[in-house]
Amino acid sequence: MTELIITKPDDMHLHLREGDILKHVVKDTQKQFARAIVMPNLKDPIKSVHQAEIYYQEIKKNTKDLNFEPLMTLFFNNALNIDEIRKVSESSLVHAIKLYPSGVTTNSADGVDAIENCFNIFELMEKFDVPLLVHAESNDKNVDIFDREKVFIDRNLSQIHGEFPNLRIVVEHISSKEAVEFVFDSGDKVFATITPQHLLFDRNDLLSHGIKPHHYCLPILKRSEDRLAIVKAATSGSPKFFLGTDSAPHFKHEKESSCGCAGIYSALSAMELYASIFETENALEKLENFSSKYGSDFYKLPSNKSKIKLTKKEFKIPARIQVGNKEIIPLFAEETLSWQLSEI
Ligand code: DOR
Ligand code: ZN
Repeated sequence: MTELIITKPDDMHLHLREGDILKHVVKDTQKQFARAIVMPNLKDPIKSVHQAEIYYQEIKKNTKDLNFEPLMTLFFNNALNIDEIRKVSESSLVHAIKLYPSGVTTNSADGVDAIENCFNIFELMEKFDVPLLVHAESNDKNVDIFDREKVFIDRNLSQIHGEFPNLRIVVEHISSKEAVEFVFDSGDKVFATITPQHLLFDRNDLLSHGIKPHHYCLPILKRSEDRLAIVKAATSGSPKFFLGTDSAPHFKHEKESSCGCAGIYSALSAMELYASIFETENALEKLENFSSKYGSDFYKLPSNKSKIKLTKKEFKIPARIQVGNKEIIPLFAEETLSWQLSEI
């Protein structure tokens, strides 16, 4: 196959940030995606529908293509009460609430420490059918970083799903075979997003032959057997798994540092990367559902009307993206990919 025309996809897990970065990354995203679930972990996290509306307007100001639609989320917090959850369920802009265990990743210091104290909020979310998006990693410092996803699933997520079987859950950016198994084995309310990096890389790509700060993300890349389980899930045709890039820009100097930030910037070439993986698995015919249908079905949104074209044609990723006097290094910078995206 040398050409693929599919419904324009949605990125169901994206970091747009604010200010100057926002301007640049929204431009890259809107070429690839018609809509995106926008993560709320700003420096001052988005905790209410009111804040989400303001952030939505800021994003829209930077959207030249009027068809790009940011799908807003709230940062899970203890101030969420029945009125706010009802507001979320009635809002046409806010689509879900994202739970971060405190300190697990970028700007998550305000996250949750005791999951067991959140059950009243889960109950309201279940009642009002508001999806719970989860950064599923334990924040227990004694847990090995490679086991944090599995431990969170065992200690917390299984219990949440058990207590609230009708709560719709997305296990974000799954990174382990245990997460794949959990999603397959749970009821029809449990889903997962899958990033390009967790499909393409394992921890050797991060740590062997020199440390690669631009491959550092959270959840951290795991073993080859984990990657293979995720590839199998993405290309299985199961509607439980859909596209979410977790594209998360940080400046070059913040990543190439003695204490580097977690996050991989993939927005520039996301669909080209997913296409290469699906091609390798002989599953190109499953790409459209994974990227343009299962996600919008989960969020109860109609499919996009516009299309994109992926052509088998070499495409070189730029070395850097200039943002003022700072730089963002995109995933696969200066490397050549074998697919190229265009809008039709
Ligand atoms: O690698 C990551 N970067 N993982 C996350 O969960 C957050 C993200 C960010 O915001 O930088
Ligand atoms: Zn993320």
